[in-house]
Order: sequence, then C-alpha cells, then structure tokens
Amino acid sequence: MTTAAIVGCGDVAVVHAEALAALNIPIVGIADTDPAGRERAAHLLPGTPVFASHEELIARTSPTVVHVTTPHHQHADVVCDLLERGIHVLQEKPLAHTLADGERIAAAAAASDAQCGVCFQNRYNAPIQALKQALDAGELGAVNGAYGSVIWARTPDYYDDRPWRGRRSASGGGLLINQAIHTLDAMAWLLGEPDQVAGTIATLRYRDRIDVEDTASAWFRHPGGVTSTFAGSLTNETYRLVEIEVYGSEGTGVIRDGLELNTGSGTPRRVPERRVRTSGRTYWGMSHQLLIQDFHQSIGSPERFWLGPEEALVSLRMVMALYADADRGRPHQGETA
Ligand SMILES: NC(=O)c1ccc[n+]([C@@H]2O[C@H](COP(=O)([O-])OP(=O)(O)OC[C@H]3O[C@@H](n4cnc5c(N)ncnc54)[C@H](O)[C@@H]3O)[C@@H](O)[C@H]2O)c1
Repeated sequence: MTTAAIVGCGDVAVVHAEALAALNIPIVGIADTDPAGRERAAHLLPGTPVFASHEELIARTSPTVVHVTTPHHQHADVVCDLLERGIHVLQEKPLAHTLADGERIAAAAAASDAQCGVCFQNRYNAPIQALKQALDAGELGAVNGAYGSVIWARTPDYYDDRPWRGRRSASGGGLLINQAIHTLDAMAWLLGEPDQVAGTIATLRYRDRIDVEDTASAWFRHPGGVTSTFAGSLTNETYRLVEIEVYGSEGTGVIRDGLELNTGSGTPRRVPERRVRTSGRTYWGMSHQLLIQDFHQSIGSPERFWLGPEEALVSLRMVMALYADADRGRPHQGETA
C-alpha cells in the first residue's frame, strides 16, 4: 500500500485530498510555506502533521508519493529536489511556468529512479479517451482538422485571493498556461504535437489587477499537415462547456460534455462524461481520482508512468510558442494604432 503527502495546501489540494480519501490512501503529512496555507491544511485534514516546507515534511515523514500542488513558479524547485532524493512525485499542471524549468523537471525525472506524473487528468475523461481510441482505430478516416474552445468566467476574487494567478512572473501566463492547457494537451494527444503555432493573446478584463492574458486565439499545424484552431476567453459571465471537435474524411467526433461520434456507418455513438459531485468544483469531475489511482498503482513498476514530464512538455512548448508569437505580433495593451 502506498501513502501520500501534499505540498501546497490551496484550492486544488482539496481535490487531491478527497481523491486520496476515496482511494483509502493515507495522507501522512502536508506542507505549506504560508501560514494561511497551513491553517487551511489543519482544517482540511485535522490531526495530520503540518509542516512549513517540503524539506521539513520529508525529514519528518516518509510518504511513498508527494503530491505537489504549489503555484506554477513553485513547481520545479520542489519537484526536482524530491526527484533527486528518489521520492515519487505527482505534480499539478502545467509542468512549470517557463520552458527552462519544465526541461529541468524532465531532466531530473530522467535521472531519477522515482516516478514522476503530471496531472493532466482530462486524459482520463471518458469522452476524450473514446475519441482517442476512435482516431487510433481510424474510425474517422483521414483527419482533416480540429477545433477546441474554452470560454469560462473568472471573478476578481479568483486573482485577489491568489495574486500569483494574475502575475506572469509567477504563473507564466493566464488562460493558455493555466486553464486552456488541458484542452491544448488533449488536442496534441489526439492529433500529435504541432510543428507550427501562431496566435494572439489579450487581457480584456480586470486589466487593473492582472498582467496575464484572459483571451487567446491560436492556430496549429500538427503532423501530416492537419491544422487546428483554438479560441478561449475567461471574460464570459458563465462557464461554457469545453469543446473539442475533430473532422475526418469518414466522420466527426464532437466533445461538448460527452462525445458524439458520427462515422457515417450507422447511428451516432454517444459517450457521456462521468458525473461526480465533490465538495470541490464539480467541473473537475472524477478524472483526478482516476489519474491519482493510476499513478499510485504505477509505483514499483519498471515502466515510467505514461503521463510524465516529457508528455507535459508538449503543451508547455505549445503555450510558450504561442506567447512568443503573440508577443511578436500584438499591439501592446492600451496602445492605439
Ligand atoms: N488539474 C487541474 O484541474 C487543476 C485545477 C486547479 C489548479 N491546478 C494547479 O494546481 C496548482 C495549485 O493551484 P491552486 O489554485 O490550488 O493554488 P493555490 O494558490 O490555491 O495553492 C497553492 C498553495 O501552495 C503554497 N505554496 C507556495 N509555494 C510553496 C512551496 N514552495 N512549498 C509549499 N507550499 C507552497 C501556497 O502557500 C498555497 O497555499 C497550480 O499548478 C494550478 O495550475 C490544477
């Protein structure tokens, strides 16, 4: 049986703690560098030892897996330190807030005997898995193109409560690296890593509080010349369902909540998303739990966990290429022509 510890006790740590409880995996300790985080930890897991740093945590406890749920700029130092000590790490997305830090994690993972996984839990969503299987089986024929969108809402509190989310120096960016990265990861998983990327970004709302983008449009060229389009914004008043559409010569796959697969051979097939309510946010679904279970089961296996730093580097490269392109091409905020 494995045990777990959590480093960083903010919003997503709650999802990890609930998943671990559901899987009957004991949490032996929790660390947060901020007193407010340690207070949250004491409320979240009463009786569990709470520490002021990950170093103190691992000096005083021996978890099998450390779940790293810190802000983006606090991923690489913590993850690399744990991997260098041979401790298994399951870290949150994105891999890091810069490509250099992401590559540092990938190198540390390659040099370590420990497992390293990255929480791109949407790859465990039933509709995305079904679409991947249909594409791999050639059910859609030759793929011609794809489309993805993330149109969500954010309140000022989202940024005020955790200022790192609105600061590019800490988060690496906004919509693309923080929210849409799940969709970009899925598009690359389905279609292959793009070799050409172009995009625009803008900060349309809450310009008084954030310097990260809340809106983006992008175009990708994937292997075989297949192209895809992405549109996203966090300026909407409500959450729209994330959409991914793939167009093939023999049919289409449309994910909007569930998957609808039209292959031209008979009636459309529907694959619904699993519905689970937790005290966390319902839109995160139960895929976190599936990924966490899979990761803990990978401990002791000679195989590397399938969703590790090298896989996570793909979406980070996409995002960083988009930022580079957008920075080259955009009129800066507030500038007029
Ligand atoms: N997979 C998902 O769907 C999903 C959803 C939400 C957030 N996330 C990711 O989870 C991570 C955390 O996001 P959040 O919204 O929970 O952040 P948060 O700010 O709510 O929590 C982060 C916590 O980490 C603590 N911390 C910072 N540096 C630390 C360090 N070096 N050591 C120990 N603790 C440290 C902070 O004090 C804070 O309590 C981010 O990478 C985010 O992108 C993933």
